[in-house]
Amino acid sequence: MNIKKIKKFNGKTDIANSIIVGDCFVEMKKIKDEIFDMVFADPPYNMQLQNELYRPNKTKVDAVDDAWDQFDSFDAYDKFTKKWLMEVKRLMKKNATIWVIGSYHNIFRVGNIMQDLGFWILNDVHWIKSNPMPNFKGVRFTNATETLIWAVKDKKVKNYTFNYEEMKKYNRNKQMRNDWYFGICNGSERLRDNNGQKIHSTQKPLPLLERVILASTKESDLVFDPFAGTCTTAVAAYRHQRKFTMIEKEEFYIDWALKRFNKNFQTPLFKN
Ligand SMILES: C[S@@+](CC[C@H](N)C(=O)[O-])C[C@H]1O[C@@H](n2cnc3c(N)ncnc32)[C@H](O)[C@@H]1O
Repeated sequence: MNIKKIKKFNGKTDIANSIIVGDCFVEMKKIKDEIFDMVFADPPYNMQLQNELYRPNKTKVDAVDDAWDQFDSFDAYDKFTKKWLMEVKRLMKKNATIWVIGSYHNIFRVGNIMQDLGFWILNDVHWIKSNPMPNFKGVRFTNATETLIWAVKDKKVKNYTFNYEEMKKYNRNKQMRNDWYFGICNGSERLRDNNGQKIHSTQKPLPLLERVILASTKESDLVFDPFAGTCTTAVAAYRHQRKFTMIEKEEFYIDWALKRFNKNFQTPLFKN
């Protein structure tokens, strides 16, 4: 398959299987209404890290302190969230669904804004990390979960895609539940430079994205991710014969993402 990296998107190029370099607020405006079958968004979490974090052995923790995760206030974060969600809603087909992933730092605000914008929440899914980062200072609980909100554009949407039987298959023939156990992205899946440094601080595990794609899309559907990072969403879509459109403002991440498409297994990586 031909995967296009689009550096100067003019709104006319076919956006199936493309990765657009740019600010999603600018690029989304060029895309026509009601085009995507499913949206997965992994937006900045607004982690609000105040200080550097060290392990008991004094080594520094590789925390999420990237410029793209910085906001001046909750109000600034809320405005950002409302703005991208409104634009994404315009791009969703009538029966499309949207997934938004976040942590306790942002997910309550995101859920609130989604409901205010008329999105109708279908499920919240709890990603339970089998290998979470410890709470190094030992002052509170180890944070071992992230939340995914799964929603439709509004309450009236009934004919959205949910592959109930397929999901059952991956849960020993029982209804798939909303607690999903996956490790954080590690090992050979984690993109690293020659010095072993992580390419992206929040690369998501591919099996998590595969489950999202297999649960809520059909073959050939067009999947959209406005905050693509290393394009985990695109790789999962590609592996399961779905099409994708990604937007990411850091070209550096995209160039690494492009190296990820060479393994095209047709069975999911995840097991239950
Ligand atoms: C949480 S990360 C996504 C990680 C991704 N799911 C992965 O598996 O690699 C959020 C990404 O959004 C990008 N980003 C932030 N603001 C953006 C904007 N306005 N337009 C496009 N990308 C943006 C950041 O550069 C970052 O790569």
